[in-house]
Amino acid sequence: MNEDLIEAAKSARNNAHAPYSKFYVGAAIRTPSGAIFAGCNVENVAYPEGTCAEAGAIAAMCLAGEYEITEVAVAAGGDEPSSPCGGCRQKISEFAKGNVLVTMVAAGGSKKTITVADLLPGAFDLERLNAGVTATGS
Ligand code: THU
Repeated sequence: MNEDLIEAAKSARNNAHAPYSKFYVGAAIRTPSGAIFAGCNVENVAYPEGTCAEAGAIAAMCLAGEYEITEVAVAAGGDEPSSPCGGCRQKISEFAKGNVLVTMVAAGGSKKTITVADLLPGAFDLERLNAGVTATGS
């Protein structure tokens, strides 16, 4: 069902710029329009300036004027599927409902699919933000 998304993530991985970690990642996200947006990790010699594949895909989606994710695929190296980092889990949850499926695929071929809710239980969300907003900080 999500083979096209997996292929897009694998293809994006081929363009990753990861000369420091040598951990090449590609991500692809689908939106309600059916469009697919992909991204790859882009590292920097000033290490913290590097960006994750998921962040690149989300930026491409927003640039196209779309703001909802219905499916995610992440392709990385090794024999076991690699799941999104903590920061990317939060970034994905900004645009995806809890039941959205995230498929992780390893270069070796093995795959794992879990929901966004399982990926980031207890996510910090707008409801939590609004509940804690005060005029004075008290
Ligand atoms: N990386 C991603 O692109 N996505 C993730 O979810 C995990 C980590 C990248 C960041 C860095 O370029 C490399 O993988 C090693 O951490």
